[in-house]
Amino acid sequence: MNVKLGKTTFRNPLVLASGTFGYGLTFPEVIEKVGALVTKGITVEERIGNPPPRIWDSAETVVNSVGLENVGLQRFQTEILPMIPTSTPVYVNLAGVDLGDFKSILQPLGQDQRIAGFELNLSCPNVKEGGAALGQSSRKVSEVTALARSLTVKPIWVKLTSNFCDVREISKAAADAGADAVVLVNTLNALVIDVEKRKPFLGAGSGGLSGPAVKPHVLYIVREISRIIDIPVIASGGVVSGLDVFEYLLAGARLVQLGSINLVDPGAALRILEELKDLFRREGVNSPTEIIGRLEDR
Ligand SMILES: Cc1cc2nc3c(=O)[nH]c(=O)nc-3n(C[C@H](O)[C@H](O)[C@H](O)COP(=O)(O)O)c2cc1C
Repeated sequence: MNVKLGKTTFRNPLVLASGTFGYGLTFPEVIEKVGALVTKGITVEERIGNPPPRIWDSAETVVNSVGLENVGLQRFQTEILPMIPTSTPVYVNLAGVDLGDFKSILQPLGQDQRIAGFELNLSCPNVKEGGAALGQSSRKVSEVTALARSLTVKPIWVKLTSNFCDVREISKAAADAGADAVVLVNTLNALVIDVEKRKPFLGAGSGGLSGPAVKPHVLYIVREISRIIDIPVIASGGVVSGLDVFEYLLAGARLVQLGSINLVDPGAALRILEELKDLFRREGVNSPTEIIGRLEDR
């Protein structure tokens, strides 16, 4: 089940997605079986996040507006980092408003031995500043990625949005500026309406869509982008089964993130891994590398 990305070998293609597994301090029996874990997004200052309600869900969808609630850099360094698991590579998800924020976080963390790499969140739809506003501009993506590249030798994954922008140009900008991979994509802009109140349901007014409903869209994006850039693509969107992972590998993803499904069942990754192994056996596939990007044309 091994997958290689640059110099790193992952034990399998499954990655626990940012914001859906905390800082990796619970459920060690799950974490030690996946390829990697991405922490909740860290900002320079502690954030309490958006007002409630912050989650709306149905069978096929989750709409969240958590708004990057997190402990902030200082508490992350002093309280979380010493306890971070070592059994599995941990990627730290970073968010910020401007270059100064990313510098403030990467200067102290950039060379930390406990951190495998970084995921730059240039795509959060639930914050007023930074987030997706950075990821919708090739120039800004390029600037933040180049800055991060200058502050760490560790792998840098750039997590992008497909909301109101051309993901092709932006993915190329990330690759040219030194990213090791792009993560496609963060949650999609979404609105839930409370009809009786004639108002948006979520406290923040709008949110980000995730869960099975987004998978066909994200599969499309993954296939398009993996054909035009030279760095690996990591998929994030709607995975609930081993079959979903198989599809993303075929579409060109090298790693596949599991997000909303962790909120439903924190042990889902173990089931999905077994399903993927069964599917490999049935399809006569010996390793993920055999099928990555092997989707044929109609
Ligand atoms: C409650 C919640 C919190 C999230 N927090 C973050 C975050 O802090 N940083 C980030 O980059 N993505 C965050 N995401 C996005 C997920 O990591 C993932 O990219 C997205 O949910 C799509 O995958 P899924 O359909 O498997 O959930 C969050 C998603 C949810 C549902």
